[in-house]
Amino acid sequence: MSDLATAAEHEPDPSGPAARAVVSLVRSKQRVADHGEVFTPPELVEAMIGLVESEAERIDSRFLEPACGSGNFLVPVLRRKLATVDARYGKSDFERRHQSLLALMSIYGIELLGDNVAECRANLVELFTSHLGLAPDDELYAAALAVVGLNIVHGDALSMQTRARTPKPITFAEWAYLGRGHYQRRDFRFETLTQMSSFSEEDSLFSDLGKHEIFTPTKDHGAVTVSELAEGGRG
Ligand SMILES: C[S@@+](CC[C@H](N)C(=O)[O-])C[C@H]1O[C@@H](n2cnc3c(N)ncnc32)[C@H](O)[C@@H]1O
Repeated sequence: MSDLATAAEHEPDPSGPAARAVVSLVRSKQRVADHGEVFTPPELVEAMIGLVESEAERIDSRFLEPACGSGNFLVPVLRRKLATVDARYGKSDFERRHQSLLALMSIYGIELLGDNVAECRANLVELFTSHLGLAPDDELYAAALAVVGLNIVHGDALSMQTRARTPKPITFAEWAYLGRGHYQRRDFRFETLTQMSSFSEEDSLFSDLGKHEIFTPTKDHGAVTVSELAEGGRG
């Protein structure tokens, strides 16, 4: 884990002087030159998230970071959502577990560099599992791995293609909680999602069309359970 991620997760006061001393905002000059990799300092992250505090605290409000690095924004957003889950569902272990997974499902990222992708996924899962006190063999642990595997994409946010030998259009899973331990999953192309707001503007040619008529999912997986997700996470 990077110095930055370590500080973001374990430093009690992310804006305090100790955090400023520990955090390294640059890994190498080469990476800055090649990929613009300069991490945002924790106090600035906190101030920026503070601008959308009520959304960050909402369990199912979706956050996408198109250059997410190791998760400097995504991890604190997840932390806020998990605090809301505890306040609302702390009395029911079943609801707390399922709502926490919904919170994780609402966090999305795209990142160009493979090592950052791996760190971002690991940092989110570490916060999730430590918050819930999950054992490694808990199926919720495996489900969380499956979710971050889908939601944190190794790709190029500009070309909207995955980074692979054969690049493909980036797709994101849209998750929703149906209740009683079931989630809905529908996959959409990133490119389509970026066009949604302009197509639904009032003066757009398409404003009288329901979004569903133009923007159909690339795949509808129907309802899935934690166990079914865990199977994907173990694989
Ligand atoms: C300036 S850093 C910011 C990281 C993090 N968001 C933060 O604020 O700490 C930019 C990150 O974006 C990644 N990146 C650069 N170009 C990208 C692209 N076209 N698509 C996705 N990620 C990209 C870099 O690898 C780097 O991790």
